[in-house]
Amino acid sequence: MDVNEIFINSKYELNQQIKHKIMKITVVGAGAVGATCADNIARRELAEELVLLDIKEGFAEGKAIDMMQTAALLGFDTKVTGVTNDYSKTAGSTVAVITSGLPRKPGMTREELIGINAGIVKGVAENILKFSPEAIIIVISNPMDTMTYLALKSLGIPKHRIIGMGGTLDSARFKYYLSVALQCNPNDLQGFVIGGHGDTTMIPLTRYATYQSLPVSELLDQATLDKVAADTMVGGATLTGLLGTSAWYAPGAAGAALVESIVRNEKKLFTCCVALDGEYGQTDICLGVPVIIGSDGWESIIDYKLNEQEQAAFNKSADAVRNMNSVLTEMKLI
Ligand code: LAC
Repeated sequence: MDVNEIFINSKYELNQQIKHKIMKITVVGAGAVGATCADNIARRELAEELVLLDIKEGFAEGKAIDMMQTAALLGFDTKVTGVTNDYSKTAGSTVAVITSGLPRKPGMTREELIGINAGIVKGVAENILKFSPEAIIIVISNPMDTMTYLALKSLGIPKHRIIGMGGTLDSARFKYYLSVALQCNPNDLQGFVIGGHGDTTMIPLTRYATYQSLPVSELLDQATLDKVAADTMVGGATLTGLLGTSAWYAPGAAGAALVESIVRNEKKLFTCCVALDGEYGQTDICLGVPVIIGSDGWESIIDYKLNEQEQAAFNKSADAVRNMNSVLTEMKLI
């Protein structure tokens, strides 16, 4: 083999490697949550190409250019492209994050959004799969548990590729309120919130929460623990009241954390809304439980033993979400 041949061969191999490595991610909805999620993905270089799509003419393009103008300041090399409703540009995405739909207004529950957002989310997910049939779908749109179930029932793709983000956000909020009560670094806390992503359906699992392996129940009195749990449950509503619309920094970062665990195959544990098939005593529903997130999507459910009271709360949460899911049948969406 002469030198030229070696050069050509190695160049070919390099090209093959580069081809293999190309990671494309789509975020649908360039509103506050979608744009924040996209910004986090770009800054952490989770993709070589990131497509931000919105239905509003020029909106995603504007956000993408604004983001790209931070590249020379922040030093990332993810290429962010904005498109108006052109799904062909999303082709070949490994992960698609769906944030489309209306956000909450003050006083509004996530559940009240169902009629408007269900049709939007279904259409978006179908369009994504047309161009990226292998994509893992992360659902952020509210009411998140019902939108995840809608994706599961209407798309016909393996359940492991459909992930609702809610519990990841709620668990981060739980750690925030715990960190305030304990006056500690939130990164030193473990704890998660299971059940639905609703003000009355989520269940902060205080009994399992720890500060560097030390149960928080040994560090805080019951009244404080109850207040942390109550504040966590209305964490989103509190911010909607303060901001006049839904929060975006933590929801966007939660979406990006899931994307990171998928594209880097980190196999981290997050609480996500996934299809239950007997786990935690529930079937035919998508609800928040601890799962391992890796390159195949959600890879397994971790079975924490619930006590009687926690299981009763989980079942009640399932009833409320199931009730909401029935609207999808009434709307003939599934
Ligand atoms: C929240 C919305 C994103 O909890 O569900 O802030």
